[in-house]
Amino acid sequence: MEKKITLTIDGREILAKPGQTILECATSMGIFIPTLCHYENTTNVGACRVCVVEVEKARSLVASCCMPISPGMVVRTNTPAVRAAQKMIVELLWSSGDHNCLTCEQNGQCELQNLVYWLKIDKPRFNIEPPGFAPDDSNTMIHRDLNKCVLCGRCIRACNEIQVNEVLDFSMRGSHAKVGPAFDENYINSSCVFCGECLQVCPTGAITYKQAKFAGRPWELNKVRTTCTYCGVGCQMDLFIKDNQIVKVMGNRDYGPPNEGSLCVKGRFGMDFISHPDRLKKPLIRRNKNEELQEATWDEAYTFIADKLSAVKKAYGPDCIAGLASARCTNEENYLFQKFLRAAIGTNNVDHCARL
Ligand code: FES
Repeated sequence: MEKKITLTIDGREILAKPGQTILECATSMGIFIPTLCHYENTTNVGACRVCVVEVEKARSLVASCCMPISPGMVVRTNTPAVRAAQKMIVELLWSSGDHNCLTCEQNGQCELQNLVYWLKIDKPRFNIEPPGFAPDDSNTMIHRDLNKCVLCGRCIRACNEIQVNEVLDFSMRGSHAKVGPAFDENYINSSCVFCGECLQVCPTGAITYKQAKFAGRPWELNKVRTTCTYCGVGCQMDLFIKDNQIVKVMGNRDYGPPNEGSLCVKGRFGMDFISHPDRLKKPLIRRNKNEELQEATWDEAYTFIADKLSAVKKAYGPDCIAGLASARCTNEENYLFQKFLRAAIGTNNVDHCARL
Protein backbone atom coordinates (compact mmCIF):
# COMPACT_ATOMS: atom_id res chain seq x y z
CA MET A 1 0.00 0.00 0.00
CA GLU A 2 1.22 3.50 -0.84
CA LYS A 3 2.69 5.36 2.12
CA LYS A 4 0.74 8.45 3.15
CA ILE A 5 1.72 11.48 5.16
CA THR A 6 -0.41 13.17 7.79
CA LEU A 7 -0.23 16.95 8.07
CA THR A 8 -2.42 19.76 9.32
CA ILE A 9 -3.55 22.75 7.27
CA ASP A 10 -5.56 25.51 8.95
CA GLY A 11 -6.39 23.16 11.83
CA ARG A 12 -7.63 20.33 9.61
CA GLU A 13 -5.77 17.06 9.26
CA ILE A 14 -5.14 15.60 5.85
CA LEU A 15 -3.63 12.34 4.62
CA ALA A 16 -1.58 13.10 1.52
CA LYS A 17 0.86 11.47 -0.86
CA PRO A 18 4.60 12.09 -0.32
CA GLY A 19 5.88 14.55 -2.92
CA GLN A 20 2.73 16.63 -2.98
CA THR A 21 3.13 20.34 -2.34
CA ILE A 22 1.37 22.32 0.37
CA LEU A 23 -0.56 24.13 -2.37
CA GLU A 24 -1.81 20.86 -3.87
CA CYS A 25 -2.95 19.57 -0.48
CA ALA A 26 -4.63 22.84 0.46
CA THR A 27 -6.41 23.01 -2.91
CA SER A 28 -7.65 19.44 -2.52
CA MET A 29 -9.13 20.47 0.86
CA GLY A 30 -10.90 23.45 -0.70
CA ILE A 31 -8.55 25.96 0.93
CA PHE A 32 -7.71 28.87 -1.36
CA ILE A 33 -4.11 30.04 -1.54
CA PRO A 34 -3.53 32.87 -4.04
CA THR A 35 -0.97 32.18 -6.77
CA LEU A 36 0.47 34.02 -9.73
CA CYS A 37 3.50 32.27 -11.21
CA HIS A 38 2.13 28.78 -10.56
CA TYR A 39 0.75 27.13 -13.71
CA GLU A 40 -0.41 23.54 -13.91
CA ASN A 41 1.72 21.16 -15.97
CA THR A 42 4.80 23.36 -15.72
CA THR A 43 7.64 23.41 -13.20
CA ASN A 44 6.98 25.20 -9.92
CA VAL A 45 9.62 27.88 -9.73
CA GLY A 46 8.47 29.95 -6.76
CA ALA A 47 9.04 33.20 -8.64
CA CYS A 48 6.28 35.46 -7.33
CA ARG A 49 5.99 34.36 -3.65
CA VAL A 50 2.29 35.27 -3.65
CA CYS A 51 1.46 31.78 -2.37
CA VAL A 52 3.39 32.13 0.90
CA VAL A 53 2.08 30.34 4.01
CA GLU A 54 3.24 29.85 7.58
CA VAL A 55 4.78 26.49 8.43
CA GLU A 56 5.34 25.77 12.12
CA LYS A 57 9.04 25.72 13.06
CA ALA A 58 10.08 27.16 9.65
CA ARG A 59 12.35 30.21 9.89
CA SER A 60 10.32 32.25 7.43
CA LEU A 61 7.18 32.10 5.32
CA VAL A 62 7.43 29.48 2.59
CA ALA A 63 6.15 29.39 -0.98
CA SER A 64 3.43 26.73 -0.83
CA CYS A 65 3.58 25.96 -4.57
CA CYS A 66 7.07 24.50 -4.30
CA MET A 67 7.25 23.29 -0.70
CA PRO A 68 6.78 19.51 -0.48
CA ILE A 69 4.78 18.27 2.47
CA SER A 70 6.41 16.35 5.33
CA PRO A 71 5.00 14.20 8.17
CA GLY A 72 3.45 16.19 11.01
CA MET A 73 3.74 19.50 9.16
CA VAL A 74 1.50 22.25 10.54
CA VAL A 75 0.54 24.87 7.98
CA ARG A 76 -1.42 28.10 8.34
CA THR A 77 -2.58 29.86 5.19
CA ASN A 78 -4.52 32.76 6.63
CA THR A 79 -2.58 34.61 9.34
CA PRO A 80 -1.84 38.34 9.59
CA ALA A 81 1.80 37.69 8.66
CA VAL A 82 0.78 35.74 5.55
CA ARG A 83 -1.67 38.40 4.39
CA ALA A 84 0.80 41.23 5.09
CA ALA A 85 3.46 39.49 2.98
CA GLN A 86 1.03 38.81 0.16
CA LYS A 87 -0.13 42.43 0.18
CA MET A 88 3.44 43.71 0.08
CA ILE A 89 4.32 41.39 -2.84
CA VAL A 90 1.24 42.37 -4.84
CA GLU A 91 1.76 46.07 -4.14
CA LEU A 92 5.35 45.82 -5.36
CA LEU A 93 4.27 43.98 -8.52
CA TRP A 94 1.54 46.52 -9.17
CA SER A 95 3.85 49.49 -8.59
CA SER A 96 6.72 48.24 -10.69
CA GLY A 97 4.70 47.98 -13.90
CA ASP A 98 2.48 50.22 -15.97
CA HIS A 99 -0.82 48.51 -15.14
CA ASN A 100 -3.35 50.86 -16.60
CA CYS A 101 -6.53 48.87 -16.11
CA LEU A 102 -8.70 51.48 -17.83
CA THR A 103 -7.41 50.59 -21.27
CA CYS A 104 -5.89 47.19 -20.62
CA GLU A 105 -7.29 44.35 -22.70
CA GLN A 106 -7.12 42.06 -19.67
CA ASN A 107 -9.29 44.28 -17.49
CA GLY A 108 -11.79 41.96 -15.81
CA GLN A 109 -9.74 38.82 -16.35
CA CYS A 110 -6.33 39.93 -15.05
CA GLU A 111 -4.99 37.76 -12.24
CA LEU A 112 -2.99 40.64 -10.77
CA GLN A 113 -6.12 42.80 -10.73
CA ASN A 114 -8.01 39.95 -9.03
CA LEU A 115 -5.32 39.68 -6.37
CA VAL A 116 -5.37 43.42 -5.72
CA TYR A 117 -9.11 43.21 -5.19
CA TRP A 118 -8.98 40.02 -3.12
CA LEU A 119 -6.32 41.46 -0.83
CA LYS A 120 -8.32 44.71 -0.55
CA ILE A 121 -5.49 46.97 -1.66
CA ASP A 122 -6.70 50.51 -2.34
CA LYS A 123 -3.55 51.73 -3.99
CA PRO A 124 0.09 50.71 -3.79
CA ARG A 125 2.32 52.44 -1.28
CA PHE A 126 5.24 52.63 -3.67
CA ASN A 127 5.95 55.03 -6.45
CA ILE A 128 8.24 53.21 -8.84
CA GLU A 129 9.18 54.51 -12.28
CA PRO A 130 7.70 52.10 -14.90
CA PRO A 131 10.34 50.30 -16.95
CA GLY A 132 9.45 52.07 -20.20
CA PHE A 133 9.82 49.10 -22.56
CA ALA A 134 8.73 49.65 -26.17
CA PRO A 135 5.73 47.42 -26.99
CA ASP A 136 6.23 44.59 -29.49
CA ASP A 137 3.68 45.21 -32.23
CA SER A 138 5.66 43.36 -34.86
CA ASN A 139 2.95 40.93 -35.94
CA THR A 140 -0.79 40.68 -36.51
CA MET A 141 -1.55 38.12 -33.82
CA ILE A 142 0.16 38.78 -30.49
CA HIS A 143 0.69 42.11 -28.75
CA ARG A 144 3.42 42.26 -26.07
CA ASP A 145 3.69 45.06 -23.55
CA LEU A 146 6.46 44.21 -21.13
CA ASN A 147 5.51 47.20 -18.98
CA LYS A 148 2.67 45.00 -17.73
CA CYS A 149 4.89 41.94 -17.18
CA VAL A 150 5.27 40.68 -13.60
CA LEU A 151 8.15 38.34 -14.50
CA CYS A 152 6.24 35.29 -13.32
CA GLY A 153 7.88 33.27 -16.09
CA ARG A 154 4.69 31.41 -17.01
CA CYS A 155 5.11 32.27 -20.70
CA ILE A 156 8.68 30.98 -20.64
CA ARG A 157 7.67 27.67 -19.07
CA ALA A 158 4.64 27.33 -21.36
CA CYS A 159 6.81 28.00 -24.41
CA ASN A 160 9.59 25.66 -23.29
CA GLU A 161 7.81 22.94 -21.34
CA ILE A 162 4.31 22.72 -22.87
CA GLN A 163 4.89 23.64 -26.52
CA VAL A 164 8.65 22.88 -26.41
CA ASN A 165 9.33 25.76 -28.80
CA GLU A 166 12.10 27.22 -26.61
CA VAL A 167 11.70 30.75 -27.89
CA LEU A 168 11.34 32.71 -24.64
CA ASP A 169 13.62 33.28 -21.67
CA PHE A 170 14.59 35.95 -19.17
CA SER A 171 17.23 38.48 -20.07
CA MET A 172 18.87 41.36 -18.22
CA ARG A 173 18.91 41.79 -14.44
CA GLY A 174 17.09 43.50 -11.57
CA SER A 175 14.68 46.23 -12.63
CA HIS A 176 15.82 45.79 -16.26
CA ALA A 177 14.88 42.10 -16.29
CA LYS A 178 12.51 41.13 -19.08
CA VAL A 179 11.13 38.20 -21.00
CA GLY A 180 11.54 37.70 -24.72
CA PRO A 181 13.13 35.83 -27.60
CA ALA A 182 16.92 35.53 -27.96
CA PHE A 183 18.92 38.69 -28.73
CA ASP A 184 16.00 40.85 -27.61
CA GLU A 185 14.27 40.27 -30.94
CA ASN A 186 10.59 40.94 -31.46
CA TYR A 187 8.31 37.97 -32.11
CA ILE A 188 8.20 38.25 -35.89
CA ASN A 189 12.00 38.12 -36.23
CA SER A 190 12.41 35.30 -33.72
CA SER A 191 11.82 31.58 -34.04
CA CYS A 192 8.30 32.02 -32.57
CA VAL A 193 5.71 29.85 -34.32
CA PHE A 194 2.78 31.91 -32.98
CA CYS A 195 1.06 29.08 -31.16
CA GLY A 196 -0.07 31.74 -28.67
CA GLU A 197 0.59 29.57 -25.61
CA CYS A 198 2.32 32.59 -24.02
CA LEU A 199 -0.81 34.73 -24.26
CA GLN A 200 -2.97 31.89 -22.99
CA VAL A 201 -0.95 31.62 -19.76
CA CYS A 202 -0.07 35.29 -19.17
CA PRO A 203 -1.77 36.38 -15.93
CA THR A 204 -1.73 40.11 -16.80
CA GLY A 205 -2.08 42.24 -19.92
CA ALA A 206 1.57 41.78 -20.93
CA ILE A 207 0.81 39.34 -23.76
CA THR A 208 -2.57 39.74 -25.38
CA TYR A 209 -4.61 38.61 -28.36
CA LYS A 210 -4.18 41.45 -30.82
CA GLN A 211 -7.38 41.12 -32.80
CA ALA A 212 -9.40 41.06 -29.56
CA LYS A 213 -8.33 44.59 -28.63
CA PHE A 214 -11.36 46.87 -28.36
CA ALA A 215 -13.52 44.06 -29.78
CA GLY A 216 -15.35 43.31 -26.53
CA ARG A 217 -14.90 43.35 -22.76
CA PRO A 218 -14.54 39.90 -21.12
CA TRP A 219 -17.99 40.10 -19.54
CA GLU A 220 -19.59 40.89 -22.94
CA LEU A 221 -18.22 37.76 -24.57
CA ASN A 222 -20.12 34.54 -24.88
CA LYS A 223 -17.90 31.48 -24.38
CA VAL A 224 -18.63 28.47 -26.56
CA ARG A 225 -16.63 25.26 -26.35
CA THR A 226 -16.07 23.57 -29.68
CA THR A 227 -13.73 21.25 -31.56
CA CYS A 228 -11.13 22.77 -33.86
CA THR A 229 -11.92 22.12 -37.50
CA TYR A 230 -8.41 22.34 -38.86
CA CYS A 231 -7.29 18.73 -38.49
CA GLY A 232 -8.42 15.42 -37.09
CA VAL A 233 -6.74 15.77 -33.66
CA GLY A 234 -9.93 17.18 -32.20
CA CYS A 235 -8.44 19.96 -30.08
CA GLN A 236 -10.95 21.46 -27.66
CA MET A 237 -11.20 25.21 -27.78
CA ASP A 238 -13.29 28.05 -26.42
CA LEU A 239 -14.61 30.60 -28.87
CA PHE A 240 -15.28 34.00 -27.32
CA ILE A 241 -18.11 35.54 -29.28
CA LYS A 242 -19.72 38.95 -29.44
CA ASP A 243 -22.46 39.93 -31.89
CA ASN A 244 -22.08 36.58 -33.65
CA GLN A 245 -18.40 37.28 -34.40
CA ILE A 246 -15.42 35.43 -32.94
CA VAL A 247 -13.36 37.86 -30.88
CA LYS A 248 -10.71 35.39 -29.77
CA VAL A 249 -9.97 31.69 -29.36
CA MET A 250 -8.45 30.00 -26.31
CA GLY A 251 -7.56 26.37 -25.70
CA ASN A 252 -10.03 24.66 -23.36
CA ARG A 253 -8.16 23.51 -20.26
CA ASP A 254 -11.08 21.84 -18.49
CA TYR A 255 -11.75 19.11 -21.00
CA GLY A 256 -8.29 17.49 -20.91
CA PRO A 257 -7.13 15.50 -23.92
CA PRO A 258 -6.32 15.70 -26.71
CA ASN A 259 -4.79 19.17 -26.39
CA GLU A 260 -4.89 19.90 -22.62
CA GLY A 261 -5.61 23.56 -23.39
CA SER A 262 -2.90 24.10 -26.01
CA LEU A 263 -3.55 25.17 -29.59
CA CYS A 264 -1.51 25.69 -32.75
CA VAL A 265 -1.32 28.89 -34.76
CA LYS A 266 -4.16 27.84 -37.06
CA GLY A 267 -6.56 26.85 -34.30
CA ARG A 268 -5.91 29.97 -32.27
CA PHE A 269 -5.58 32.65 -34.91
CA GLY A 270 -7.02 31.20 -38.11
CA MET A 271 -10.73 31.43 -37.39
CA ASP A 272 -11.54 34.51 -39.49
CA PHE A 273 -12.66 32.25 -42.35
CA ILE A 274 -15.83 31.51 -40.36
CA SER A 275 -17.37 34.91 -41.02
CA HIS A 276 -15.43 35.73 -44.20
CA PRO A 277 -17.73 37.08 -46.97
CA ASP A 278 -16.13 34.68 -49.51
CA ARG A 279 -16.89 31.61 -47.44
CA LEU A 280 -18.75 28.93 -49.39
CA LYS A 281 -21.90 28.07 -47.49
CA LYS A 282 -24.05 26.43 -50.17
CA PRO A 283 -23.18 23.79 -52.78
CA LEU A 284 -22.36 24.93 -56.31
CA ILE A 285 -22.96 22.77 -59.37
CA ARG A 286 -21.44 23.11 -62.84
CA ARG A 287 -23.89 21.12 -64.92
CA ASN A 288 -22.06 21.48 -68.22
CA LYS A 289 -18.40 21.88 -69.01
CA ASN A 290 -18.48 25.53 -70.07
CA GLU A 291 -21.17 26.62 -67.66
CA GLU A 292 -20.66 28.86 -64.65
CA LEU A 293 -21.03 27.30 -61.20
CA GLN A 294 -24.58 27.67 -59.96
CA GLU A 295 -25.91 27.65 -56.42
CA ALA A 296 -27.89 24.53 -55.56
CA THR A 297 -29.65 22.93 -52.60
CA TRP A 298 -27.97 20.09 -50.70
CA ASP A 299 -30.57 17.65 -52.09
CA GLU A 300 -29.75 18.72 -55.65
CA ALA A 301 -26.03 18.41 -54.96
CA TYR A 302 -26.29 14.90 -53.45
CA THR A 303 -28.52 13.72 -56.30
CA PHE A 304 -26.07 15.16 -58.83
CA ILE A 305 -23.11 13.38 -57.16
CA ALA A 306 -24.99 10.09 -56.88
CA ASP A 307 -26.04 10.20 -60.55
CA LYS A 308 -22.51 10.96 -61.74
CA LEU A 309 -20.88 8.28 -59.57
CA SER A 310 -23.46 5.68 -60.62
CA ALA A 311 -22.94 6.51 -64.29
CA VAL A 312 -19.11 6.25 -64.00
CA LYS A 313 -19.36 2.99 -62.05
CA LYS A 314 -21.76 1.50 -64.58
CA ALA A 315 -19.64 2.50 -67.55
CA TYR A 316 -16.12 1.77 -66.26
CA GLY A 317 -16.41 -0.29 -63.05
CA PRO A 318 -15.97 0.70 -59.36
CA ASP A 319 -12.17 0.87 -59.50
CA CYS A 320 -12.42 3.85 -61.81
CA ILE A 321 -13.56 5.84 -58.79
CA ALA A 322 -11.28 6.99 -56.00
CA GLY A 323 -11.99 9.00 -52.86
CA LEU A 324 -9.69 11.47 -51.11
CA ALA A 325 -10.83 12.28 -47.59
CA SER A 326 -9.80 15.28 -45.56
CA ALA A 327 -7.69 15.68 -42.46
CA ARG A 328 -10.22 18.30 -41.43
CA CYS A 329 -12.79 15.55 -40.90
CA THR A 330 -13.22 13.70 -37.65
CA ASN A 331 -12.27 10.03 -37.33
CA GLU A 332 -15.94 9.15 -37.52
CA GLU A 333 -16.44 11.11 -40.74
CA ASN A 334 -13.36 9.53 -42.31
CA TYR A 335 -14.59 6.10 -41.21
CA LEU A 336 -17.93 6.71 -42.92
CA PHE A 337 -16.17 7.98 -46.04
CA GLN A 338 -14.08 4.82 -46.50
CA LYS A 339 -17.15 2.71 -45.68
CA PHE A 340 -19.06 4.53 -48.41
CA LEU A 341 -16.31 3.87 -50.98
CA ARG A 342 -15.86 0.23 -49.98
CA ALA A 343 -19.47 -0.78 -49.33
CA ALA A 344 -21.49 1.52 -51.60
CA ILE A 345 -19.08 2.09 -54.51
CA GLY A 346 -17.14 -1.18 -54.18
CA THR A 347 -13.56 0.05 -54.38
CA ASN A 348 -10.59 0.23 -52.04
CA ASN A 349 -9.35 3.38 -53.77
CA VAL A 350 -9.46 5.61 -50.71
CA ASP A 351 -6.86 7.93 -49.26
CA HIS A 352 -6.69 11.18 -47.33
CA CYS A 353 -4.69 14.38 -47.47
CA ALA A 354 -2.92 13.53 -44.20
CA ARG A 355 -2.32 17.15 -43.28
CA LEU A 356 -3.35 20.60 -44.33
FE1 FES B 1 4.00 30.13 -5.57
FE2 FES B 1 4.37 32.11 -7.34
S1 FES B 1 2.62 30.90 -6.99
S2 FES B 1 5.71 31.41 -5.80
